[in-house]
Amino acid sequence: MKVRGQDMRVVWWSDDGIHYIDQRALPMRVEIGVARDVEEVARAIEVMAVRGAPLIGVFAAYGFALAARRGAALDAAYARLSGTRPTALNLWSGLDAVRAAAPNPCVMLAAARAYDDAGIAAAEAIGTHGLTLFRHGTRVLTHCNAGWLAVQDWGTALAPVYKAARAGLEPFVYVSETRPRLQGARLTAWELREEGVAHVVIADSAAAHLIQRGQVDLVLTGADRVAANGDAANKIGTYSRALAASAHGVPFYVAAPLSTIDRAITTGAEIPIEERPEDEVLTVEGVDDSGALVRVRVTPAGTKALNPAFDVTPHRLITGIVTEVGIVPASDRGIAEAFRRAADATRPGGRGGATRG
Ligand code: MRU
Repeated sequence: MKVRGQDMRVVWWSDDGIHYIDQRALPMRVEIGVARDVEEVARAIEVMAVRGAPLIGVFAAYGFALAARRGAALDAAYARLSGTRPTALNLWSGLDAVRAAAPNPCVMLAAARAYDDAGIAAAEAIGTHGLTLFRHGTRVLTHCNAGWLAVQDWGTALAPVYKAARAGLEPFVYVSETRPRLQGARLTAWELREEGVAHVVIADSAAAHLIQRGQVDLVLTGADRVAANGDAANKIGTYSRALAASAHGVPFYVAAPLSTIDRAITTGAEIPIEERPEDEVLTVEGVDDSGALVRVRVTPAGTKALNPAFDVTPHRLITGIVTEVGIVPASDRGIAEAFRRAADATRPGGRGGATRG
């Protein structure tokens, strides 16, 4: 990905610590943060300076390698990092990839880099497979941010959009704002502007209306965790889009790498749903006329709020899951098929898994 014309990753290792684009400052400013120890890595995830399922996996992987470099106790570091957010499976897949290389700090760092690079390759492959869903001028509705701010270099749901744009298909994106943290309005809209992809931001409550009026050809979202039966947890509000899409015969696809699929759980009911601070609902943040970032309360003083950060879309509402090994049905068999293709691809003489299911 390019930010202001410069090749960049959202998270990168350097000898003084792990650098990251602080997503809390976007779209107003591009600010670079540095996490110099495990506690700073954990805090950056908790406050969502670094966010998005695959990205927190990569950041935690580097964070664990940093713990080894600093001579920290590895069990304590693993516990601290894995306790930062409960829903996205990638947090554990990133940590486990690096733990498998312990205890040598150099080998652990190499494992973190390999995990990072594999995630980029998977995201690009998701883009290639997802491109088959696009025709000229396809109007896609997405929710939250599943672009290159959430997954190094490509994104998941936005990877096919970027591929379509580069192929000259001129996709159009409806960006739902995604209250309460506004990942759509703040992050996805910024990314799409940087990439020159046509889009409009819509209020969350406008999505079903547009789907009903036939203005949306395709709904495409990311996922934080997919169960073995294809149920998918993603940002709160995803389920209501899937319901609307199903009611009006609009295809609803989830784009996710295999590192997001939790085969240890059978259904989405077992996915832990993060509850975030009520302040995120009671207030809104934006810039004032002087460009200063301000947070204002939008509810009466003393009002309470409930803030579940994710919901689960049942597999029956999902047309297919776009993975790095192809598009598979959202079902036990579809998920098993995806892992079979991945295993095939790693066998000598394997087919590389590049088929569409
Ligand atoms: O709370 P966030 O911003 O970390 O949630 C992110 C999402 O829900 C994304 O849609 C999901 O991680 C998929 S990103 C490829």
